[in-house]
Amino acid sequence: MKLILCGACGRMGSEVTKLCAERGVEIVCGVDLVKKQLPYPLFPTFAEVKEEADVIVDFSSAAGLEERLLFAKEHRLPIVLAATGYTEADEELIKVFSGRIPIFKTGNLSIGVNLLELLVKKAAAVLGEDFDIEIVERHHSQKKDAPSGTALMLARAAEEARGSDFERVYGRHGMVGARQKDEIGIHSVRGGNVVGEHEVGFYGEDEIVTLSHSARSRRVFAVGAIRAAEWLMQKEAGLYDMNALLREIAM
Ligand SMILES: NC(=O)c1ccc[n+]([C@@H]2O[C@H](COP(=O)([O-])OP(=O)(O)OC[C@H]3O[C@@H](n4cnc5c(N)ncnc54)[C@H](O)[C@@H]3O)[C@@H](O)[C@H]2O)c1
Repeated sequence: MKLILCGACGRMGSEVTKLCAERGVEIVCGVDLVKKQLPYPLFPTFAEVKEEADVIVDFSSAAGLEERLLFAKEHRLPIVLAATGYTEADEELIKVFSGRIPIFKTGNLSIGVNLLELLVKKAAAVLGEDFDIEIVERHHSQKKDAPSGTALMLARAAEEARGSDFERVYGRHGMVGARQKDEIGIHSVRGGNVVGEHEVGFYGEDEIVTLSHSARSRRVFAVGAIRAAEWLMQKEAGLYDMNALLREIAM
């Protein structure tokens, strides 16, 4: 597999670079706004890329999404969108392009977190409206978007299971009044070098159920990205996520 790595100079870019070297996966070039010494050519934008590739892995940011998708469409390349922080307009754009190329998008590439999502769905359905749901996520001090893509993914999972949308409350401050039944609280903690922690609490009258996941190293996301890239290369145009991949593996 030959891949183009967008966001090659970042923390995740470094993890993917290390993993590819270990596994003999060829990175034909990187794309990043900043410069760094890398064992492959690096370009500031996709306009300069002339290398032949099989797939793009994007660990940069939501900025520049359209340029990336246009390049992928023009060269008929599947693309793994591993960055987070997309707006509703970005999500629409991704849907439109997925009619032409295979796109893999997930808020979290770890298998453990995707299992957590399934457990959250189950818990939300079983516990029902009598339990208030609050999500707490913790990440390192350099993370730019909040709440995390994974926290949003978990909130959507709970909503799907309950069959109704919650009002999302991002942190609380001041005289906010009593908690409403249709609220879901989402709280972001930032500090140090925390890789990524998510906790979904179901708070009832007499009992509390807490489901949580803690990532101990960024490598887990690089492994997920390479696995997703290999899997996506076999796919037709469409929008895929980690659950689709796991369902297929489990079959
Ligand atoms: N889906 C997952 O499982 C998962 C896991 C970890 C991180 N992430 C996401 O991946 C992204 C990167 O994380 P990180 O910790 O490596 O961040 P980082 O800030 O260390 O690295 C991001 C890199 O992308 C580059 N970049 C930013 N915008 C760009 C653009 N428009 N064009 C080209 N390069 C650009 C930056 O210069 C930087 O080198 C974030 O959105 C993060 O939330 C997702």
